[in-house]
Amino acid sequence: MNNKPLLVVEQLSHSYREGRETRPILNGIDLQIAEHECIALLGRSGSGKSTLLNMLAGIDTPQGGSIRVMGQEIHKLSERERTLLRRRHIGFVYQFFNLIPTLTIAENVGLPLELNGYPEAEISRLVGFILSDVGLGNRWAAFPDQLSGGEQQRVAIARALVHNPAIVLADEPTGNLDEETGKHILGMLLGLSKQLRRTLIIVTHSLEVAQRADRILTLNYGRLSEQGELHW
Ligand SMILES: Nc1ncnc2c1ncn2[C@@H]1O[C@H](COP(=O)(O)OP(=O)(O)O)[C@@H](O)[C@H]1O
Ligand SMILES: [Mg+2]
Repeated sequence: MNNKPLLVVEQLSHSYREGRETRPILNGIDLQIAEHECIALLGRSGSGKSTLLNMLAGIDTPQGGSIRVMGQEIHKLSERERTLLRRRHIGFVYQFFNLIPTLTIAENVGLPLELNGYPEAEISRLVGFILSDVGLGNRWAAFPDQLSGGEQQRVAIARALVHNPAIVLADEPTGNLDEETGKHILGMLLGLSKQLRRTLIIVTHSLEVAQRADRILTLNYGRLSEQGELHW
C-alpha cells in the first residue's frame, strides 16, 4: 500500500431478519483501501457483496462496526451530509446500468455534475471528454433505449467517473452483458480508473479481471480474505 487509506472499515457486521431467524451476512469485516488502488471483490452469489458495497456507499446502514471514507465516519453523518459525500466522492456502476430513460446520453452523464452545481459550460465540456473516453463521443444526443447493452454500460461508466469521484464502486458491471462485450467493458473500466487515478472496487466473477486488480478480496461466510498481492 502506498499512502494514507481512503477507506477504513472496522469490524463491520450485519444480519438480515427472516421471519424469526436472524441471518448473519457480514461478520466482522476489516478492510483498508489506499488511494488509487484497484480491488476485485469475489464471492459466491448471496455472500453479501452488494450489501457490503451499498454500506461503503452509505446507501445501507450496518448494524455494527464503522466505515470511514476520507476520514469521515459515514454513518455518523446526517442524511444530508451523507448524500453530499456520496454525490461528490462516490461513483456507482450497477449491473443493470440504471440510466434514466427520458434523458439523453449527455444528460445522463451530466447528472452528477448538475447535482453538484457545476456551471452549464463546464458540464458540456466534461461530458464531452468522458463520452469520448468511453468511445461514445458521437452518441450524446441518443436516448438509452437506442443503445446496445454494452453501450449503455459505457454510458454508466462515464456517469460514474465524470465528477472525478475519489471512489468508484462497480457491482457486477458486466453481469448483464455477453462475454465478449463484458470483457471489453471491464477492460475499459479498469483502464480508465487507472488512467484517471481513481480508487476502484469491482465485484466480478471473472478471475481474469480479478488478476488485473491490485488486490483480490473474497467474501465468504461473512468474512473477507485476501489472496496475496498482484500487480499489473
Ligand atoms: N434487504 C434485505 N432483506 C433481507 N435479506 C436480504 C436483503 N438484501 C439482501 N439480503 C440477503 O442477504 C444475502 C446477501 O445478499 P447480497 O449482498 O445481495 O449478496 P451478493 O451481492 O453477494 O450476491 C442474500 O442471501 C440476500 O438474499
Ligand atoms: Mg450482488
